[in-house]
Amino acid sequence: MQLSPRSPLLLSTLLSSFLFLGACGGGGSSSGNPSSASASSSSQTSSEASSSSDRSSSSSSEALSLHILADFPIGVAVSAANEPSSIMQDNEAGIAQRAIIEAHFDQLTAGNIMKMSYLHPAQDTYFFDDADALLDYADANGISLHAHTLVWHSDYQVPDWMKNFEGDAAAWLAMYKEHVETIAGHFAGRVPSWDVVNEAFNEDGTYRNSLFNQKLGTAYIETAFASAREADPQADLYYNDFNISNGGAKFQAMINMVDDFIARDIPIDGVGFQMHVFMDWPSIDAIKSSFAAVAERGLKVKITELDIPINNPYSPGYNYPDNYEATFTDELAAAQKKRYCDIVTAYLDAVPADLRGGLTVWGIRDSDTWLISALFDDNHEDWPLLFDNNFDPKPAFYGVADGLTNQPCL
Ligand code: G3I
Repeated sequence: MQLSPRSPLLLSTLLSSFLFLGACGGGGSSSGNPSSASASSSSQTSSEASSSSDRSSSSSSEALSLHILADFPIGVAVSAANEPSSIMQDNEAGIAQRAIIEAHFDQLTAGNIMKMSYLHPAQDTYFFDDADALLDYADANGISLHAHTLVWHSDYQVPDWMKNFEGDAAAWLAMYKEHVETIAGHFAGRVPSWDVVNEAFNEDGTYRNSLFNQKLGTAYIETAFASAREADPQADLYYNDFNISNGGAKFQAMINMVDDFIARDIPIDGVGFQMHVFMDWPSIDAIKSSFAAVAERGLKVKITELDIPINNPYSPGYNYPDNYEATFTDELAAAQKKRYCDIVTAYLDAVPADLRGGLTVWGIRDSDTWLISALFDDNHEDWPLLFDNNFDPKPAFYGVADGLTNQPCL
């Protein structure tokens, strides 16, 4: 069976039928992909799974289900409601993405619609309809929803009414706690975990001068954790940030905060490593050390937003338009596959099984990545995710499968 090219609708049908075959232990025919992985049942062990390097002629990529290769959640960030590329719409992109989700992932994160301005658009108004619809979809398909995020400084996501809130320190604190408790309370019992506070530190390790810091001091972080625990005693509570998998000042500040929380019994269950990383940064050793430092403290480690673009605008060699990767060659795809595999392997090596909170990729297909406009001034193309723009799995997909099944990263 050739996987590509084909229409998303056909992909949906094929994935569903081959997933069924896979779940029943049925075989498939060979794949047209550069490499393919086989996982024929949920009881398959790592040693039974074959490496992508030796399975090209004997197995079906369609029979692989990524999430059954792991005993921790394998997630993906999605657009929902009426966002562009929403998975909730009955157009081709929606149908194709749902097929991929249902085949390969057992956890979702809302890329946007569970942020502050969406859920709390006016002081006396909460809006849960879109998030509830996403949660209903997830529930109906046996998929969990990692909730993102109760508190985030990002200007676009802090509701205007909150920016303009007038009141003394006590009024601010009451309003802030009500925000956290109402939202966490609404989803209590239905979500396994929350990114409670997102991105509280600057790169130099100082606390970000966010609205919350200005109004409440750095105690806004522990207040959010305490309020979230109060409202949802069952959910795992994560501190989530980027650029903390390379050691350095920001990582150390985060660790210092975690140690302080543990010493003072502030409820925290884990650290979310966003992992918006590059092909050449951070080193695998640095990633492992960062994960291990959190695990050593008895906290869960969750990779919350993994993506790996081919171009690194911070790299000395990058010089658009004279020197950058304009084409996604087979060599680059193979290197990206290895990088994904190396990172998954680092996660398994550094984090004990009981502290693995899961691994989430930040988006399904390359064309929907947030990275293009954020990273590249010229908006040129890149290919950071596991599926191409036809919704076909890329070599990177098989790199994740290899990592999850302890195969060598080739
Ligand atoms: O939905 C509207 C659409 O109607 C409109 O036409 C379009 C025009 O700009 O905007 C759309 O909204 C965009 C939204 O994503 C949905 O696609 C917003 O402008 C855009 O700012 C928003 O960006 C998101 C960003 O967070 C800010 O919330 C990205 O998709 C999302 O991937 C990104 O995610 C963050 C994590 O939450 C935290 N870690 C970093 C990560 C990447 O920045």
